[in-house]
Amino acid sequence: MIELIKNEKGIFKNLINGKWKDSTTESTITILSPLDNSELGKINAMTREEVDEAIETAKIAQVVWRSTPLNERTDILYKAADLLESNLDELVQLLIMEIGKDKNSAISEVNRTADFIRFTADIAKNMGGESISGDNFPGYKRNKVSIVTREPLGVILAISPFNYPVNLAASKIAPAIVTGNSVVFKPATQGALSGLYLAKIFEMAGVPAGILNTVTGRGSEIGDYIVTHKGINFVNFTGSTEVGHRISNITSMVPLLMELGGKDAAIVLKDADLDLTAKNIVAGAYSYSGQRCTAVKRVLVVNEVADQLVEKVKILVEQLKVGNPLTSKDNVDIVPLINSKAADFVMELIQDAIEKGAKVLSGGTRKENLIQPTLMDNVTVDMRLAWEEPFGPVLPIIRVKDADEAIIIANQSEYGLQSSVFTQNINDAFYVADKLEVGTVQVNNKTERGPDHFPFLGVKSSGVGTQGIRYSIEAMTRPKATVINITQ
Ligand code: NAP
Ligand code: G3P
Repeated sequence: MIELIKNEKGIFKNLINGKWKDSTTESTITILSPLDNSELGKINAMTREEVDEAIETAKIAQVVWRSTPLNERTDILYKAADLLESNLDELVQLLIMEIGKDKNSAISEVNRTADFIRFTADIAKNMGGESISGDNFPGYKRNKVSIVTREPLGVILAISPFNYPVNLAASKIAPAIVTGNSVVFKPATQGALSGLYLAKIFEMAGVPAGILNTVTGRGSEIGDYIVTHKGINFVNFTGSTEVGHRISNITSMVPLLMELGGKDAAIVLKDADLDLTAKNIVAGAYSYSGQRCTAVKRVLVVNEVADQLVEKVKILVEQLKVGNPLTSKDNVDIVPLINSKAADFVMELIQDAIEKGAKVLSGGTRKENLIQPTLMDNVTVDMRLAWEEPFGPVLPIIRVKDADEAIIIANQSEYGLQSSVFTQNINDAFYVADKLEVGTVQVNNKTERGPDHFPFLGVKSSGVGTQGIRYSIEAMTRPKATVINITQ
């Protein structure tokens, strides 16, 4: 059992310079469970001075850490992965309570994160620099060689969202520290306890003092201060497009790696295997109530097969298990949304679509924050649901005349995270994939990030830069060229 460190008032402390520190602030945030409103704990809304201390500490510690042998850094990662697995049950319980994740998804998040951390250590050990001979370039002789090594950037700011508080924190922290950077980690407020638990695991695994520091507080209050802090050398952010734009507008001369919102389309052509397609669409759209950046968020289906597909999707939607993970005996697919604001927003999109003529085939109702899985047919491009990211269990079906119309509508979105294309014709699959303005196209599969060593990126308003184990390592390091000039 891992005990998170609290002060005498029961407020969770933060990891700063290797110590779990109390805050000087009187300002605290109470974390309530989205499942039963029970109080899970209180965190500190840290002051600017405390943020300064976390960043300063990280800066000082990084100077020594960058010279620590790589095999010592990777050993710490292997230990952290083992600790995650050996504390799986406890962490899964925390995820369920804090962010309302269903049990299967919570188990998968923890296991996947352990795999991610181990694979990061493996890749880091196997990545080398290069040497480039000068005479490759016209006019030069063999008297110059550039030895290119990879250098850490310094202090990495890791900001994670509520929906994957462990995975999307570790996928920033692990590549950062293995490459000799230090980290200031600001978890999402709803998700902060899971984030602090992860920090505790890294500390127990042997991350030295100052290399991983946590900062809690509302992004709306301290976010701007942290992202524009002079001590930060790199910002790795996952969250909404709105906050991503804000960070990009207010920062200057600091590289950004941002994974933001999405409106992933599943494009269904007339020769698609409709059973496979329906199964993927439903799994992709509704798991964890659609609170995933990569959830299928619209279906663009050609008229010839639309009726058949819709029927199959509807049958599967009606089989989804709906309920509260706390009180349901079996695993549930559809859980209460993270808060009432999120549920209000989803209902607003559903209402707008109904008013403009969309047909509710299933769901459409809400009890507190639990929204029944909602399937809407005849959604058209004048409806908000065609364009906005609900982050909830609602799926619009947009009927199109052919693949070209599907491509046009898919690309009209401000987002460009992923898309799926379902067809049995490889030429058509490539035709569509080639034209989609997204980071990843899935052929005959739901949109999803994994496996986590694949490149993962969004274009347009879905992100900046590329994540994925090797890609994150590259992003968090820079080449350094030392040129040997040979006297001849
Ligand atoms: P969010 O509201 O944007 O929050 C994300 C993180 O940013 C939280 O830690 C938040 O802190 C912090 N934050 C808020 N304002 C900030 C500011 N001004 N400066 C710096 N940080 C600030 O997003 P969310 O609701 O947690 O997550 C859902 C969104 O994330 C969806 O749009 C989803 O598509 C996206 N997402 C994208 C990916 C991807 O890989 N593409 C993956 C998962 C989620 P507080 O919690 O304290 O507000
Ligand atoms: O890494 C977690 C998140 O970015 C997306 O993962 O499996 O929901 O597509 P997934």
